[in-house]
Amino acid sequence: MDSKMRINGGKPLMGTVEAQGAKNASLPVMAAALLLKNSSLRISRVPNLLDVNTMADLLRSLGARVLFSDHEMFISIPDEISWETPSDLVRKMRASSLVLGPLLARCGRAIMPLPGGCSIGSRPIDLHLKGLTKMGATIELVHGAVHAHTKGLSGGRIYLDFPSVGATENLMMAAVFAKGETVLENTAREPEILNLVETLRSMGAIIEADGTGVIRIQGVDSLHSAESRIIPDRIEACTYILAGAATNGEVTVTGVIPNHIDSLLAKLEEAGAQMTVTHDEVTIHPSGRLKGVSLKTLPYPGFPTDLQPQIMASLCIAQGTSVIQESVFQSRFLHVSELNKMGAKIDIQGNTAIVSGVDRLTGADVVATDLRAGAALVISGLAAGDSTYIYHLGHIRRGYEDMEEKLKSLGADVEILPAEIDGTRESQSSVCRES
Ligand code: EPZ
Repeated sequence: MDSKMRINGGKPLMGTVEAQGAKNASLPVMAAALLLKNSSLRISRVPNLLDVNTMADLLRSLGARVLFSDHEMFISIPDEISWETPSDLVRKMRASSLVLGPLLARCGRAIMPLPGGCSIGSRPIDLHLKGLTKMGATIELVHGAVHAHTKGLSGGRIYLDFPSVGATENLMMAAVFAKGETVLENTAREPEILNLVETLRSMGAIIEADGTGVIRIQGVDSLHSAESRIIPDRIEACTYILAGAATNGEVTVTGVIPNHIDSLLAKLEEAGAQMTVTHDEVTIHPSGRLKGVSLKTLPYPGFPTDLQPQIMASLCIAQGTSVIQESVFQSRFLHVSELNKMGAKIDIQGNTAIVSGVDRLTGADVVATDLRAGAALVISGLAAGDSTYIYHLGHIRRGYEDMEEKLKSLGADVEILPAEIDGTRESQSSVCRES
């Protein structure tokens, strides 16, 4: 049964939380383990999230042994693994598509249902498939599933039409055993990509990546056991920083890498927020009412699309107007109607949201339509002067470890309750398999 979160807002958050390991680094690093044979990958600082456990189940379904406790994961891969992914798991999480490259590289075959679209857009994987075809894979779509096979992948030059995170990760992993050199151009440059590069290198892959959008991979014959450590989750960390800003509180997030979140820190400074930044901590101080700002989401190092809903929630009560342009996903504004239910004044014009700051938000029953939209509603609930009920919490659990405990440690009045089955309420939101 899904559950709901009740938030009695209007109180400044005060205290310190530690950033979890990055969800969007953990998932590709886990998938990379499939490149191993009779070897193992030990990963530390893995967050205990729904999506991480889904990926662990997916690896197990292919024949891996996965042990996971207290943020430490041990994945051992036998000599033979299956190359056919179970559709129920793939449909649960789009990031399952990250096993495609490793399976093709390691087994020469892969069968994987096409990941569905969701509330933030159609989310195709055409760039993944185009790159794999260029490397010598034969790809057919049969009954909504990708059937891929190859006699052996070959290197070459692949230019990505868009710096897709997933396509960069899939093609990099596919290239590890390819004949010769593979040069990926116009790649994604997110920190999670470099975390994957470091992991693959520690397994014996030969990869050059300096964050400039060009990645060179020299094919090798095999990889070996290794250890990897996941970087801090920059999106989770910024979610708590923005919650501090929205409640005029004093919140310190520890265990972060500040230069991974430069774009948010710069935008918050522009909005008048007072912050202290050290080598691994960020503190936001009571800054009064933020000033409205304008931003456009872009691939890293631009402002991250995964923070767009959350900063929008914080700017709903800013002084003046904010203009937020979403350029990465087709439609990532489903949280707007829920924020407007709480008294926000947001007008959507195409891929741009015009946010007119209001003095205060009021509590309401709202629905999380996807992971980051849910996080935005938590922020608006914390800022609102009374009670807010957030339904479809499952989305939030996909990407935020122990959010209720972390918020309580910051003094928030939150509680998780069973969600009564309310025909209108529960059926309202579209189900999203983003991630
Ligand atoms: C990753 O998704 C993240 N997920 C997303 O985080 C994040 O929003 C996204 O990158 C952008 O930063 C993980 O890392 C697990 P993309 P991914 O390929 O790889 C289009 C979260 O909340 N596109 O960079 O799926 C696509 O439709 C999640 O943690 C194609 O058209 O994102 C989108 O508009 C949500 N064809 C844009 O590119 C393709 O073949 C960016 O997608 C691939 C992508």
